[in-house]
Amino acid sequence: MNFQSPSFPVTRLRRLRGSAELRALVRETQLTPNDFCYPLFVTEGENIASPISALPGQNHWSVDQLMGEVQRAMAVGVRSVILFGLPSRKDELGSEAYAEGAPVQRAVTALKRAFPQLVVMTDVCLCQYTDHGHCGPLCGETVDNDAALKLLAQTAVSHARAGADLVAPSDMMDGRVAALRTALDGAGFEQVGILSYAVKFASAYYGPFREAAGSKPAFGDRRSYQMDSANRREALREAAQDVAEGADWLMVKPALAYLDIVRDLREHFPLPLACYNVSGEYSMIKAAVAQGWLDERQVVLETLLSMKRAGADLILTYFARQAAEWLA
Ligand code: PBG
Ligand code: ZN
Repeated sequence: MNFQSPSFPVTRLRRLRGSAELRALVRETQLTPNDFCYPLFVTEGENIASPISALPGQNHWSVDQLMGEVQRAMAVGVRSVILFGLPSRKDELGSEAYAEGAPVQRAVTALKRAFPQLVVMTDVCLCQYTDHGHCGPLCGETVDNDAALKLLAQTAVSHARAGADLVAPSDMMDGRVAALRTALDGAGFEQVGILSYAVKFASAYYGPFREAAGSKPAFGDRRSYQMDSANRREALREAAQDVAEGADWLMVKPALAYLDIVRDLREHFPLPLACYNVSGEYSMIKAAVAQGWLDERQVVLETLLSMKRAGADLILTYFARQAAEWLA
């Protein structure tokens, strides 16, 4: 900035901090319920709202019970959800990910029928559905990139057929955005958007999610497909690639430890930008609050605000319903 303000005592920055009203007038970033997308876990069965111990306050929902939770979130202003499925069986190829009538597919249809104005997104990946817990089919000990693309595309099309507004690939295979775009267009779903988990790091912050989704890899880790936490330039390459392949929306994940990457993407790409306030970020706040060490409301709103300030347009967060209620 080449602007130079006169120095103290002419300039006194405290002048505009004197009252709540004054502070509100000069506040640069506002958090609203519109900024949140609520991740939800859908399971088989009926009448199920079963607490996830690693994510205090979050549940596995059967489709019938999911409706109520979404209605409660919408009542405080949440406009979008992203769904994750818990299949009743797993196999080598993750076939429940693209099975008609699986929980996510049923949930999408039921939600769009009950709440046509709700924006419904689906996570597209195979790790919850494969018996080995990796994000695509294996070739020896590694994930076969190009074989994964076919199954991911099939999954996206089945979500689109169920009525999803946007599909969100989280697998980090090369070429998945193009593969999804081609398959969606080929099936007549040219209006279904792709929110790409463009920059997804191999992170220890996914720990609670893997318990919630039962998606811990049976061997090894995800470092051969998810990004190395140390890499900032590579994040731009990942995003540029997804933009070139037709992504409508970019995402950075996790959020809190990667706000510099959120800012980088904001500055380099005009696309809408999301960030994922992941399970570990949620649970560490919950744990500290349970100990009485943090004020939940203040620390949650401060954390979510930091993501917005860094440049995110949308925040995927397990706090969505609660935070929206606080802001309502
Ligand atoms: C699946 C997926 C993961 C998350 C979202 N989609 C976990 C992973 O990659 O292991 C993490 C979400 C969270 O931690 O809240 N590919
Ligand atoms: Zn995965």
